[in-house]
Amino acid sequence: MKTVRLSIIGFGAVGQGVAQSILSKHDYLHKHGIDLRVVGISDSGGCEVDTGGIDLKKVIARKKQTGTVAADSERDFDLISDVEHDIVVEATPTNIKDGEPGLGNMLSAFQSGKHVVTSNKGPLALCFAELKEAAEDNGVLFRYEATVGGAIPIFNLIHEALAGNKVIGIEGILNGTTNYILTRMAEERLPYELVLKEAQELGIAEADPTYDVEGIDSACKLVILANSIFGQCATYRDVDVTGITKITPEALELASKNNYVIKLICEASDGRLIVAPRLVPKRHPLSVGGTLNVASILTDLAGRITISGKGAGSIETASSILSDILYVARNS
Ligand SMILES: NC(=O)c1ccc[n+]([C@@H]2O[C@H](COP(=O)([O-])OP(=O)(O)OC[C@H]3O[C@@H](n4cnc5c(N)ncnc54)[C@H](OP(=O)(O)O)[C@@H]3O)[C@@H](O)[C@H]2O)c1
Repeated sequence: MKTVRLSIIGFGAVGQGVAQSILSKHDYLHKHGIDLRVVGISDSGGCEVDTGGIDLKKVIARKKQTGTVAADSERDFDLISDVEHDIVVEATPTNIKDGEPGLGNMLSAFQSGKHVVTSNKGPLALCFAELKEAAEDNGVLFRYEATVGGAIPIFNLIHEALAGNKVIGIEGILNGTTNYILTRMAEERLPYELVLKEAQELGIAEADPTYDVEGIDSACKLVILANSIFGQCATYRDVDVTGITKITPEALELASKNNYVIKLICEASDGRLIVAPRLVPKRHPLSVGGTLNVASILTDLAGRITISGKGAGSIETASSILSDILYVARNS
């Protein structure tokens, strides 16, 4: 049995999803010879540490009751650098202004010889090359499947399953909120403002929807894809971005009469990075509805491969994180 110790930094929807998944997959993990032990968990209120392995059920319950994982707030050590463990799971909020606190957490993990698995796209959309170099310099692994497409294993597919292929281009829908809004507008012939309000009430859109509807979230994900797949050094500022705020029900209706839908498409090819609403034939593989995400990858040997699935959600995102944790456990 291989013991792998990890910390979870950020205990919101994703961090708690990871803890739930580790609990529910206990027998599966043991069957595959892996003893996953969470030795530290932190949120904005403090941290819980137990080098023998935290009682996850207890900490999830405490978080629900008190709002924090911390049993006491007085701890004078740094969880990432001072507590001995193998993997830092970084799941703090995305910040695309300076990447913090995720950027500092990831660099600190690398410097103290720890692998990083993350769902936090901010640091990668700003400093991908710097992070990759820091991981390489310290001889540790850097995995970020959950940053793009939630549950969809896009990086895994390209880097592992399609190894040997040259990726010629990639296009897709990488934001579930805008896809939901466009789908509802088209199906119900409703105006943008009304559907946005409904999406906010359902918790599909944020109170401040700017990042989603202006295409910024999609642009961040496209940059991470391009940097990872094509070895580019782009930041989200290099993306030509148009959001969905100006799309009218009339435009969607006209498209529909001609057997098209309008989708917010991300595209990376020939060094160009574009996020913009585009006409897509109704029966095209990119024409997925609701909050679904989709990625279509054009390669030289395999041709075109398209995958779609849930782009967000606590357990769905934890699926990608768990897969990355297992990759690290097997390859380190
Ligand atoms: N939710 C999804 O479906 C999804 C999908 C893909 C990627 N992501 C990305 O994954 C990350 C986490 O998302 P989420 O939905 O779990 O966000 P969330 O629910 O807002 O949780 C964020 C967590 O980070 C904690 N935090 C904030 N500042 C911190 C600090 N300085 N040190 C330690 N913890 C800190 C928060 O503490 P408090 O609890 O005390 O506020 C909270 O527990 C984000 O970057 C997001 O973009 C999310």
